Amino acid sequence: MVGLSSPDDAAVWRLSDEQAIVITTDFFTPVVDTPYEYGAIAAANSLSDVYAMGGKPFPALNIAALPDDLPAEISSEILRGGAEKAHEAGVVIAGGHTVKDKEPKYGLVAVGFVHPQKIIGKGGLKAGDVLILTKPLGAGVTTTAIKQEKAEETHVREVIEWMSRLNREAGQLAQEFDTRGGTDVTGFGLLGHAAEMAEASGVSLHFDLAKIPFLSGARGYAERGIFPGGAFDNKRHFEKDVTFAGLEEAAQMLLFDPQTSGGLLFGAARENLTALMKRAGELGQPVWVVGEARGGEGIRVEA
Ligand code: CO
Ligand code: CO
Repeated sequence: MVGLSSPDDAAVWRLSDEQAIVITTDFFTPVVDTPYEYGAIAAANSLSDVYAMGGKPFPALNIAALPDDLPAEISSEILRGGAEKAHEAGVVIAGGHTVKDKEPKYGLVAVGFVHPQKIIGKGGLKAGDVLILTKPLGAGVTTTAIKQEKAEETHVREVIEWMSRLNREAGQLAQEFDTRGGTDVTGFGLLGHAAEMAEASGVSLHFDLAKIPFLSGARGYAERGIFPGGAFDNKRHFEKDVTFAGLEEAAQMLLFDPQTSGGLLFGAARENLTALMKRAGELGQPVWVVGEARGGEGIRVEA
């Protein structure tokens, strides 16, 4: 149902009229200095693509590449972080494979299930939908500040907390309100993923900068130019699709900041918004209304 011809968060294969299987994998090098939390973030990020398709993950496999000289207690902490995050999600890690490599890499192959009529894809937005975001932006600048040893400790704790957070409740909320258009915000940044969704859905997306949430340190690091290389790649690649009205350079760049284990961005019918906000509160799921889908094409961001 979803494969190479329509790039999305995961592949989907119909098993029956009632059930489809969702398959995805993701792994990356350490984004934080603590091995347990690196493992937890990598696992949350891998499972996120299943939630982003509207699915419920169940079995998963570890994928790891670990240096020969890495102390055993560090590699076991990475795997423990992943296993405990999977357990929190109700996911069983049933095996996996490890190879040797100079730089550690870790993630999961994740499998999940979704009803074939309830797949959430990048092309499912409709003009008039409000756009909901479920985690603040700024993970890329903050983790770059960590790598450059310029990050404040409170900002480190904050970004780890958000990156470790499962998108389970966000996915549940999207499903309960019959969302068909959504994705998780990861390497292409908010505007890169938004541009993909606008094109796939045949709509234009309008964002209001003042409504977009950021991690506490993000603006400060952005103003000091502490961006990961991916932010510049994203800007080069996607800026042709974006019109900015009254945004300074640092704010524009922050919207291209690549996220690790970012939140879901999904559309919801405006008439459901009050009920959706109430339900989000019951689930303990933070949500921000950051814009809306309209007719036309491309992206517009207003200050
Ligand atoms: Co994704
Ligand atoms: Co992915």
